[in-house]
Amino acid sequence: PLPEYSPAVVIGTGYGAAVTALRLGEAGVPTVMLEMGQLWNEPGPDGKVFCDMLKPDRRSMWFKKRTEAPLASFLWLDIANHDIDPYAGVLDRVNYGGMSVYVGRGVGGGSLVNGAMAVQPKRSYFEEILPRVDADEMYGKYYPRANAGLGVNHIDEDWFETCKSYQFARVSRKAAQKTGLKTTFVPSVYDFEYMKKEEAGTVERSALASEVIYGNNAGKRSLDKTYLAAALGTGHVTIQTLHEVREIIQQQDGTYTLVVRESDALGNVLATKHLSTKYLFLGAGSLGSTELLVRARETGRLPRLSEAVGQGWGTNGNVMLGRANHVWDTTGSLEAGMPALGIDDWDNPANPVFAEIAPVPAGLETWASLYLAITKNPERGHFTYDAASDSAKLQWAPEQGQRSIDAAKSLFDRINEANSTIYRYDLFGDTRAFENRFTYHPLGGLVLGEATDDYGRVKGYRNLYVMDGSLIPGSTGVNPFVTITALAERNIERVIAEDGVRA
Ligand code: FDA
Repeated sequence: PLPEYSPAVVIGTGYGAAVTALRLGEAGVPTVMLEMGQLWNEPGPDGKVFCDMLKPDRRSMWFKKRTEAPLASFLWLDIANHDIDPYAGVLDRVNYGGMSVYVGRGVGGGSLVNGAMAVQPKRSYFEEILPRVDADEMYGKYYPRANAGLGVNHIDEDWFETCKSYQFARVSRKAAQKTGLKTTFVPSVYDFEYMKKEEAGTVERSALASEVIYGNNAGKRSLDKTYLAAALGTGHVTIQTLHEVREIIQQQDGTYTLVVRESDALGNVLATKHLSTKYLFLGAGSLGSTELLVRARETGRLPRLSEAVGQGWGTNGNVMLGRANHVWDTTGSLEAGMPALGIDDWDNPANPVFAEIAPVPAGLETWASLYLAITKNPERGHFTYDAASDSAKLQWAPEQGQRSIDAAKSLFDRINEANSTIYRYDLFGDTRAFENRFTYHPLGGLVLGEATDDYGRVKGYRNLYVMDGSLIPGSTGVNPFVTITALAERNIERVIAEDGVRA
């Protein structure tokens, strides 16, 4: 049962939240974590916790009648998506007018559904986006701490050269090399030794059974197996699932009272509860934490919140695209669900691009090379409060994504020219070659040093903190979760040391 008071409360259970809870727990501070999604540990009727990606059921998505997969079509056929019953599934796609955002729902947040790519940004770019954060400290102390806590590992490069699982990546690398571009291996929190055994047929397949966006039944070191397990192990941390925080109220004595809605997995509201705390940490992700503070400011609950709350949101420059391979350049029907290689053209001064070589784990030969390009797009969106739906709405116009498409196109035009290949026009539901109506990497909304001080303390309020991806100003140049983790490690260390957080 939910207590009425806890010295510390963490909202959410993603990267920023998990780091925060572990460090609070180690400091002996009783901490309650509130997560709107489910704990994913009970097998369904098929004996598995997570459903099949190719035959998804209600476990796949968060209260949808039909799945909304990123690759909407194949040869223009709507074969990726299926009707499902509305349920508290693991992947959400939040659709705003001009932009859709994919997020994980459940204990572990995005770690349950993501591609596991654990990449540190180039130091020079980190210094550009967060100039007031000491990069020596980040690269010397907090990135290594994050990588260790997350269980980051590296692929066996000899195995990569000969395995079936990454033939798709080798085909893409060949095309990049022919263009004079360099590729780089990307570290991962998917256990590559487990993957080797999957290919050898000695363990149950997960990444090699097309599992990724609707959860992995094995192999992945999601947060429930790393930081959150360690946090629970301190004996001071508890997690309440299917508990959504709706409102934050400050009492006369400075403590916070949360209005929390408890539901069942079918979406029926069971109770509205109150939980009070002295130290409140927001780890509900870029969308979740920003919405809570935009709502709090606009409804007058926390009127001293600054105008910077809700600003500085970006897509990390995400663009997805496919190239058509020559008939002799087969990828094979087996593609690891976890990417392991990227094209690194970030040093290109005109159009910096880091393009992860993504699988199309359809279980058949597709003759397609897929990419998620991360580009440098200075456009930013912001959130407004919509009283009718009591929610925050992202303001992002489709034109704001054009810079990203231009950058990706300039790189992939070169690759196509060098290889005499063309784009795929059949993957995104119509005939577009570049898809940037969605992002996997929502960042910002409560930017470090703007909505908060330089350590995530919310301006205008004491003992109220932001610890997740909403701190990052819209871009990291690479996949973001290692940076979110490392920044949370840095900030919580300072807060525990300076703000008197104790039992
Ligand atoms: P995160 O979003 O992880 O967690 C927030 C949690 O808070 C969620 O569990 C949510 O349910 C909960 N919550 C929200 N509002 C709440 C409320 N009001 N009350 C209670 N709970 C609430 N990154 C990367 O580095 N490498 C990769 O390979 C990929 N690949 C990838 C693929 C896909 C499909 C997706 C969707 C995302 C990725 N990412 C990624 C992105 C990465 O997963 C993302 O950046 C992080 O999960 C963000 O971490 P946060 O701590 O900000 O929140």
